[in-house]
Amino acid sequence: MTTTTRTFLDGNFAPVTEEVTTVDLPVAGDLPAELAGRLLRIGPNPMRPPDPDTYHWFIGDGMVHGVRLRDGRAEWYRNRWVRGDDVVNTHVIGVGGRTFALVEAGGRPVELTDELDTIGSCRFDDTLDGSYSAHTHRDPATGLLHAVTYHWSWDHIRHVVLGPDAHVRREVRIPVPDGPSVHDCAITERFVVLFDLPVTFSMDAVSGGALFPYRWNPDHPPRVGLLPLDGDPDDVRWFEAPSCYVFHTLNAYDDVSDDVSEDGRDRVVVDVVRHPRMFATVLNGPDEGDPVLERWTLDLVTGTLSTETLDDRGQEFPRIDERRTGRPHRYGYGAGFGRGVEHGPALKHDLAAGTSAVHDYGPGRVTLEPLFVPRSPDAADPGAVEDDGWVMSYVYDASTDRSDVVILAAQDFTGDPVATIHLPVRVPFGFHGSWVPDA
Ligand SMILES: [Fe+2]
Repeated sequence: MTTTTRTFLDGNFAPVTEEVTTVDLPVAGDLPAELAGRLLRIGPNPMRPPDPDTYHWFIGDGMVHGVRLRDGRAEWYRNRWVRGDDVVNTHVIGVGGRTFALVEAGGRPVELTDELDTIGSCRFDDTLDGSYSAHTHRDPATGLLHAVTYHWSWDHIRHVVLGPDAHVRREVRIPVPDGPSVHDCAITERFVVLFDLPVTFSMDAVSGGALFPYRWNPDHPPRVGLLPLDGDPDDVRWFEAPSCYVFHTLNAYDDVSDDVSEDGRDRVVVDVVRHPRMFATVLNGPDEGDPVLERWTLDLVTGTLSTETLDDRGQEFPRIDERRTGRPHRYGYGAGFGRGVEHGPALKHDLAAGTSAVHDYGPGRVTLEPLFVPRSPDAADPGAVEDDGWVMSYVYDASTDRSDVVILAAQDFTGDPVATIHLPVRVPFGFHGSWVPDA
């Protein structure tokens, strides 16, 4: 075992003990006046000190953090526990003017107020039957949110589509064996990309007392499926995949040409963060080798999947300019850690040039998931240019034991931040978040 339980309870993984409200935060630099909304994020933050021998990072009570920006000011910072029926700790999103905290594998979404207090557990006004997912992908052409959901007791996974009104529009059940853990999906203009990888529900883990009951399962054949966006289960086309685990996709898109000079190709490209394996040993969080950025190309003519390493440095939490969701993307952003990166920098990949830029926040300063926030949120805006906007993240500073929100100009990624908002407390390392612009 290379990691002890305490790793995910120590340092900035440790929970904070108070809910805080602070107004008029100090800002270094100039907050862009275009930024009107809330920068939200969420992660595990046990309400009571957990037993370090049984704690798993994925099961800690959720706490949501937010900073509200308007008129060039940082109006407030708030952190609040998510008080649902279950542990909900993995993502927080805005849909239809409402705010939802999300988790996978069975816990119901929790609706929050604009100021992050819990309204209650919900099933999207009773339109959701069963589990939801932490990861949604909004099709910029339709405004529909696509997700793939699972539950240990199901013999299938589900493609669930949420409308812009936060009501479920579609639910399709795709049979799969062994109860795989499906953390994320991807979409293209034609397909939902399904991941059926060898981390599956383990009754042995349950009977052994594990609170997180998913384990590496080398007997489960890894595969990736393409389900047409409005297709039936019988329409899924499966591709043999490498033995590995993928929590997160950066993006996916169709690569189709009838031009014989280009070999008349029909492909789907999926960029993923690939872990060599996951939960093969009884660790208390994911730590089984550096995750790297890979391009998986699914060839619909030959029925094969090929892989290409895009960046072999350790990294996670990939994000794009979401106006490009399901469309060819040039840029990707992520958090660097592990092999080949020092401190906790943000990474920006230029996948056309084959280069990556590193923003080092300084010694002892570590970024959480960096988000791209576009200058113009409307993908149909003729002036919308990929990468025109800001990269925003919560950055932990070990020397002060507090966190900042740091805003970079995406097109001056290695330059000095545009603005740094100083928070009175630290924001523990956690999972995901969203920029929710004012309606
Ligand atoms: Fe995730």
